Amino acid sequence: MIFLNKKRKLILAIESSCDETSVAVIENGDTILSNVVASQVKSHQRFGGVVPEVASRHHVEEITLCIEDALAEADVKPDDLGAVGVTYGPGLVGALLIGISAAKAFAWAHDLPLIPVNHMAGHIYAAHFVEPLQFPLMALLVSGGHTELVYMRETGSFEIIGETRDDAAGEAYDKVGRVLGLTYPSGKEIDELAHLGEDTCHFPRAMMKEDNYDFSFSGLKSSFINTVHNAEQRNEELIVKDLAASFQASVIDVLADKTIRACKEYPVKQLVMAGGVAANIGLRDRLSKEVTEELQGVTFIVPPLRLCGDNAAMIGAAAFVEAEKAHFADYHLNADPSLSFTTI
Ligand code: KG4
Ligand code: ZN
Repeated sequence: MIFLNKKRKLILAIESSCDETSVAVIENGDTILSNVVASQVKSHQRFGGVVPEVASRHHVEEITLCIEDALAEADVKPDDLGAVGVTYGPGLVGALLIGISAAKAFAWAHDLPLIPVNHMAGHIYAAHFVEPLQFPLMALLVSGGHTELVYMRETGSFEIIGETRDDAAGEAYDKVGRVLGLTYPSGKEIDELAHLGEDTCHFPRAMMKEDNYDFSFSGLKSSFINTVHNAEQRNEELIVKDLAASFQASVIDVLADKTIRACKEYPVKQLVMAGGVAANIGLRDRLSKEVTEELQGVTFIVPPLRLCGDNAAMIGAAAFVEAEKAHFADYHLNADPSLSFTTI
């Protein structure tokens, strides 16, 4: 086991798959000693979405500073570390390559093993900082790029039982936010507005009655856009908080319904919700209530808000599991922008 020659089981973790450069130092896979996150979101806001080339340039500027800060904040020296974990997919290829190159250079310079980590596995393992994960478990992964129900029979094993056929939930939030003239990313603002309004539009709940665990959000998005355009053409006043509440009600109904159904069909000890959209207060409240009422003996775990978005601490937690399984990479490790769970 790689950590045997060290007093403490410390991993340096690096995340750069999208628009956050992040470096963390994690002890025993469950304790965060530091978790430095340099967000680029302000640079991308004027474009209404992440511009890959801009993201890569920011990662280059930030990565070494983040490594230095993470080590200093954790009060750890490179020689104390047992391994370097890094996100190698899914994500933007240029952005991933910056983190991977930095991780390889650091690992080579300090003679440390390199651990490749799937970003989506990282999102699930963020919950491990709240409570030790117990298996089997169901994970609802909801982010800007993914919407998936993942069944884990044991640690490090992932089976996608349902996923979106088109837009991810976070992507839908950001697209309708743009139509309303909100700042990117608009999930948080729509969530806040939704709590002030009523579901007056009754948008469709796609695929809710179908006998599978897949999702679809593009019809909801089109319906939303049509409603806004029709009102504009008729010079009718739009009540933004009601539009937000109607949109959010549809998203939550579908996500909650399918997730609870999946937890009834599959034997599970825990339900984990993870990814940027897991910050959604409406979705957290709804699932928490339904798990208590309908799923006896199942614990619902959602990471705290700061661990829902992209961060390296979650990559460190997932890297620890990979290290225990002796899943290491050599210096040929490459970025895999469309990495899925089936390939790890
Ligand atoms: O996981 P994440 O930080 O990045 C990706 O890997 O995609 O997720 C970002 C997404 C964005 O689409 C953002 O609008 C959404 O998470 N988001 C929310 C909320 N906070 C962030 N969506 C709904 N409600 C929120 N409170
Ligand atoms: Zn993410």
